[in-house]
Amino acid sequence: MKIGIAADHGGYELKESLSEFLTSKGYEIKDFGAFGLDNQDDYPDFVIPLANAIVNQEVERGIAVCGSGVGASVVANKVAGVRAALINDHFSAHQGVEDDDLNLLCLGGRVTGKMVAQELIEAFLKAEFTGAERHMRRLEKVKALEK
Ligand code: RB5
Repeated sequence: MKIGIAADHGGYELKESLSEFLTSKGYEIKDFGAFGLDNQDDYPDFVIPLANAIVNQEVERGIAVCGSGVGASVVANKVAGVRAALINDHFSAHQGVEDDDLNLLCLGGRVTGKMVAQELIEAFLKAEFTGAERHMRRLEKVKALEK
């Protein structure tokens, strides 16, 4: 599975460690930056290209990290076809995919520790959308807003 990752300065350190972790687990990574720590950089500059890559199917799923994970999720959800959420717990990490077809996991680099982040992204990446009728129905209502 090819995974896109992105972070601003608030998430840079966690992104780097998650990138190493995912590579060690055999995932192919496409990194959308930042490529160095710059306290003046802006999360939309990295998260929007990642969000577009998900929509264009250049990557299957994404992980975006900013300081809190809030800005990353706000901007990513402006891109039609992206279903992003700030995730802080294991249940939501997989249930978000199973029920809501979550395709972009957002994390707070200043909130979530490295080991917890690893568990969250593993739960996210291993989960599959169930395709259950009630979930499809709900997603259609979400998609209708994107037109
Ligand atoms: C950057 O200082 C910080 O505001 C940003 O990383 C993020 O937390 C926004 O939601």
